[in-house]
Amino acid sequence: MIPVRRIRIAPSVLAWDLGNLGEAIDISVRGGADQVHLDVIDGHFAPNITFGPGTVKALRRRCDLKFDTHLMVETPELFAEKFLDAGSDVLSFHAEVLNGERFDALHRAVARRGKEVGLALKPSTELPEWARDRLDKLSTLVVMTVNPGFSGQQMDMSTMPKLERVNALIGDMGGGVDLEIDGGVEPENVREVVKRGGSVLVAGAGVYSKEDPVGAIASLRARAEAAAREA
Ligand code: DX5
Ligand code: ZN
Repeated sequence: MIPVRRIRIAPSVLAWDLGNLGEAIDISVRGGADQVHLDVIDGHFAPNITFGPGTVKALRRRCDLKFDTHLMVETPELFAEKFLDAGSDVLSFHAEVLNGERFDALHRAVARRGKEVGLALKPSTELPEWARDRLDKLSTLVVMTVNPGFSGQQMDMSTMPKLERVNALIGDMGGGVDLEIDGGVEPENVREVVKRGGSVLVAGAGVYSKEDPVGAIASLRARAEAAAREA
């Protein structure tokens, strides 16, 4: 049986040595990752500061992989164009800092550039009403399974019922939105998220803290594809 959803592995470079991010990109390329997950944190939305468009631009020169940029920032309007200029392919905005009107303006700005829009939810955030009405504008719905800020946390399994709910909503719409799982993804739990519809799997520590990070990408994929065949 062919899996219904194509599994995509998105290593999160936040888990690598931040002084050597180029190496993190090379590992993703060598491991056959589908995309690279770039965590941008502004010190306001979450208690950490990571990197900005300049870093993304420098990494862009290193590979052709899809850049999935997760904007954990209070005011995404200040940065959206800058990350597009830097070479991001998907911009995921957080639902907690937006409303329908602000989302629409951001969506227009990204769509005008031919790029994709994602919407991200913290573990305790339900999909707001305004976002339900706009699901068709998303390429990706990012369900965070850890609180934003840091790599290396354990997956919060209390998010599983929400994953089922949003997966059902996407199904009602006839699909077309990828469900991305972000936080604590490890070989041991991919089955739990894939059987609930997760198909884009972000993995920071699940790739970069392993002894063989290149091989870890393939083993995550093998586990996830097996789970997708079962589902
Ligand atoms: C957390 C980030 C995640 C994180 C994933 O703020 O959004 O993308 O880096 O790392 P792991 O997989 O280690 O939880
Ligand atoms: Zn992330």
